[in-house]
Amino acid sequence: MTTIQIRGGQRLVGTIQVNGAKNAVLPIMTASLLADKGITVIEGAPYLTDIENLAHVVRSLGVGVEMSPDGKVRVEADSLATCEAPYELVRKMRASFWVAGPLLARTGHFRVPLPGGCNIGERPVDQHIKGFEALGAKVTIEHGYVEGYVNGRLKGARVYLDIVSVGATINTMIAATLAEGQTIIENAAKEPEIVDLANYLNAMGASVRGAGTDVIRIEGVKALHGASHNVIPDRIEAGTFMVAAAITGGDVFVEGAIYNHLSSLGAKLREAGVEVEDDISGIRVRAPQTLKPIDVKTLPYPGFPTDLQAPVLALLARVEGVSIITETLYENRFMHVPELRRMGAEVKIEGRSAIVEGVAKLTGADVTATDLRAGAALVLAGLVAEGETLVSGVEHIDRGYHDLVGKLRSLGAHIFRAGDSVPPLKLVSSQS
Ligand code: EPZ
Repeated sequence: MTTIQIRGGQRLVGTIQVNGAKNAVLPIMTASLLADKGITVIEGAPYLTDIENLAHVVRSLGVGVEMSPDGKVRVEADSLATCEAPYELVRKMRASFWVAGPLLARTGHFRVPLPGGCNIGERPVDQHIKGFEALGAKVTIEHGYVEGYVNGRLKGARVYLDIVSVGATINTMIAATLAEGQTIIENAAKEPEIVDLANYLNAMGASVRGAGTDVIRIEGVKALHGASHNVIPDRIEAGTFMVAAAITGGDVFVEGAIYNHLSSLGAKLREAGVEVEDDISGIRVRAPQTLKPIDVKTLPYPGFPTDLQAPVLALLARVEGVSIITETLYENRFMHVPELRRMGAEVKIEGRSAIVEGVAKLTGADVTATDLRAGAALVLAGLVAEGETLVSGVEHIDRGYHDLVGKLRSLGAHIFRAGDSVPPLKLVSSQS
């Protein structure tokens, strides 16, 4: 079993380089399926199991995908062998459902397993289906699969999303690029990853306007081609390092991070007494030893990101006084709380809120990561806990953080990874 071992107590100091955004690479990889000619090259992609898993899904459709250690993902989708994605691959990662939009737009058909719930909540896809139906597709759910058909091309339409959903915005936006006429997506998600996807789609020959606002307009075109694209930096990885600096009373420069993408975290850290400086080339975080409690509520972008809720909860667990964290996006995203309690944290869950009574000291313990960000939170708590913390469930952390251990060690943390039974992700270049 792979574990991460941490001996707490080191102040983090130095500079780390942020990776390209996992949550930008994934939709761009699925959108690359729209191109019936030309090669897509995604630059700056981190080496992560989630990206590897999506590469397997895309390859299962008969498409060539190569990933190289210098952060390039190449996709050649000139022909598709099937429009059906296999359950054993899709069940590993919910974002695999995002192949539905491009398949529908390009071929008029998709058959993709209905993603199940996961450790953070139920996570339905009704808004994705609403988007496809508005564009003229007939969608059914049978035998665990969602299947969509359209005769000829999709038809541009006005689509109002009932919930601000990153995934539904992505799937609808991608599908609309090849539709006949104009599509208007209202109540669209505004995340930087949506803007990055729109930039890539436009480089493919699409016409997408308004990404980053809640109304996105897409003028459908007849065909799209592969394109090169450099992904934006990973704001959640960057935010995790900002919190790591704060929790250890450290001084860290997160090189490559874009402050505008993280202004909600920056504001909250400042409220807690942390110095946050935005610089043209990154974000510097300097923290005193004592911080003030704060209240945090997760919201769609530009609100406070749910993906940083667990790391911030770990921070507040050691800030004396009462902080309240409210999670509005997912119904089950407090799985890190029982584990943090094992380290001495005093946290009560009441409905969608965690009431955090900060303690002066956390103590090292054996703990288990249940999802990627919960895992990051446990690692951060371990950095300040007295004695040794042993984190298992490391496979969750590997989904979204490339070399978290090495990066924290380079900042001075006493942290090691042990027990890897398989070598690091292998490089792949075959088509299957
Ligand atoms: C994306 O997931 C991210 N994943 C998540 O990051 C992130 O937590 C989430 O957006 C919110 O910011 C990727 O980008 C790969 P949603 P997504 O559709 O698209 C509900 C991480 O840690 N909903 O915006 O699946 C849903 O249940 C991951 O990197 C519906 O009800 O999120 C949730 O409560 C975890 N019906 C809310 O909307 C739908 O049809 C937001 O989900 C779709 C969503």
